[in-house]
Amino acid sequence: MRKLTVPIRTARLNLREFVSSDLKAIHAYSSDPRVTRYLFFGPRDEDSCAEYLEELLQSQREQPRTRFELAVEEIATTRLIGACDLSLIEAKVVDLGYMLGAQQWGKGYATEIALALVDAAFFDLRAERVISTVDVNNSASIRVLEKIGMRWEAVYRKHRRAKNRWWDCHLFTLPREVWESLKAET
Ligand SMILES: CC(C)(COP(=O)(O)OP(=O)(O)OC[C@H]1O[C@@H](n2cnc3c(N)ncnc32)[C@H](O)[C@@H]1OP(=O)(O)O)[C@@H](O)C(=O)NCCC(=O)NCCS
Repeated sequence: MRKLTVPIRTARLNLREFVSSDLKAIHAYSSDPRVTRYLFFGPRDEDSCAEYLEELLQSQREQPRTRFELAVEEIATTRLIGACDLSLIEAKVVDLGYMLGAQQWGKGYATEIALALVDAAFFDLRAERVISTVDVNNSASIRVLEKIGMRWEAVYRKHRRAKNRWWDCHLFTLPREVWESLKAET
C-alpha cells in the first residue's frame, strides 16, 4: 500500500493535515446543527471538538495509517472551512466523507473535494473500491456522490443508531474499473 500524498491541492482548495491551532475553526462549523444534521455526531461543543482534534492528531501518527481526515482550506482566504476524509475500512476499500461550514455550501466545493479524494484513493492508496454511506434524506450529499460518478448500490435500513434514532443510509460505490473508464473519457 502506498502513502497518501498530503496536502492535496485542487483548483480552489488545499486539503491539508490538521494542526492544533485549528480548534477554533473546527468548532465554528461543527457546532452548527445544520452541518451535523446528517452526521452521526454533533453538534460538538468546545470540549468535544478538542477531543476530536486530539484523536485526529494521534491518527496522523498511526503506523500503518488508516484514517486520513484532512482540513479543507480555501486557497483564496487561507481559511479552514471544513473537513474531509478517506478511511481504509478493509483491505483496498476506502470510505469517503466531507463536511463544510454552511456559508460555503453551494459553490461546488464538496464536488471538488470528492473528485480529488477519489483520485487519491485510487492512485495513492491503491484502492479497488471507494464507498460512501449517506443518510437517505441528505440530498445535497447524495447529489455530490452522483456528480462524481459514484453509483447507488444498496439501502441499509437501520444502518446505525445514533443521536437517539435509527439511520437509514444509502451505500454508494465506485469500483476501480469504473473510475478508470471515467478518467479515460476526460
Ligand atoms: C453535503 C455538503 C458537503 C455539500 O457541499 P457543497 O459544497 O454545497 O456541494 P456542491 O456544491 O459540490 O454540490 C451540491 C449539489 O447538491 C445540490 N443540492 C444542494 N442542496 C440540495 C437539496 N436540498 N436537494 C437536492 N439537491 C441539493 C446542489 O444543487 C448541487 O448540485 P448541482 O451542482 O447539480 O446543482 C454540504 O452540504 C455539507 O457540508 N453538509 C453537512 C455535512 C454532510 O452532510 N456531509 C456529508 C455526509 S455523507
